[in-house]
Amino acid sequence: MMAPGTIMAAITYISQILNGLMMLAMIFQSVSRGIASSRRLKEVLDTEPAIQDGTMEAPEEKGAVTFEHVSFSYPGNKTPVLKDINIDIQPGEFLAVIGSTGSGKSSFVQLIPRFYDVTEGCVRVDGMDVRDYKLEDLRKRISYVLQKSELFSTTIKDNIAIGNPSASFEEIQKAAVCAQADEFINSQKDGYDTAVAEGGMSLSGGQRQRIAIARALLKKSSVMIFDDSTSALDVKTEKAFREALLKEYPDVTKIIIAQRISSVMYADRVAVINDCELVACDTHDNLMKTCEIYQDICSSQMKGGEEDE
Ligand SMILES: Nc1ncnc2c1ncn2[C@@H]1O[C@H](COP(=O)(O)OP(=O)(O)O)[C@@H](O)[C@H]1O
Ligand SMILES: [Mg+2]
Repeated sequence: MMAPGTIMAAITYISQILNGLMMLAMIFQSVSRGIASSRRLKEVLDTEPAIQDGTMEAPEEKGAVTFEHVSFSYPGNKTPVLKDINIDIQPGEFLAVIGSTGSGKSSFVQLIPRFYDVTEGCVRVDGMDVRDYKLEDLRKRISYVLQKSELFSTTIKDNIAIGNPSASFEEIQKAAVCAQADEFINSQKDGYDTAVAEGGMSLSGGQRQRIAIARALLKKSSVMIFDDSTSALDVKTEKAFREALLKEYPDVTKIIIAQRISSVMYADRVAVINDCELVACDTHDNLMKTCEIYQDICSSQMKGGEEDE
């Protein structure tokens, strides 16, 4: 006959031993997962980037962009996304780009900071082939607001300052004023020190876009690309931004992709991209006379058929 104390002791010991064994099994599991993960990580770190640095000295910065017979298809994909594009964008020009969804507008501008390499032809910035630039030199000249703006979970001020970490508060504020963001930032609880939630979820789409625009303006480069980055702004705010942009940055080359005729009609020239091709590039007035596709876009929006992407 065993005493109850002895039985309790035995149970306690057994459960302690079991616990220990279970911990050991868990450690083994973590270790083997860790080994597998580190192997995959190493694979990524060891990958040679497809975009290799060029070696030439960068020419004087002006803001000219030229496409010469550019054709492009995404790596591993044979269907061309751009076909034989030729365009000469002058320093300080305001070029708008319009075209239906999937026509290749984003792909067109992505070739300028060399996110991808052309399949045929060449893209020149200030006269030099982008493949000859050191990537750092090339990308210093270009600011780019993505179609979907990314914000980080830090303050609004720091989110804008990513464009130029050494900028003073006055410069940050000036960029925000131009981007039409100053007003709503000041109405936030802590103004410029308001924290942004993960992914910018605490802000509306238009507010996120304006912060992303301010970030690009702060970078002060000679070419600024806005990929559909005013789509969530109302027409009045967009007009105020466009006027401020033209006034504050007259010498900067501005390439603006937009869906609305009202966003593109004041540009120096409008490039119409349709089905991978640059079908026309001219002023609004001339396109209204000569370009059927542009007339179609115009009339569909006049009838109230305007749609948001
Ligand atoms: N990363 C990618 N890989 C492969 N195909 C892509 C990629 N991005 C876009 N595409 C394709 O390229 C075409 C043009 O896309 P895009 O340049 O984004 O058009 P837009 O900006 O005019 O809407 C589309 O048919 C799209 O499916
Ligand atoms: Mg796009």
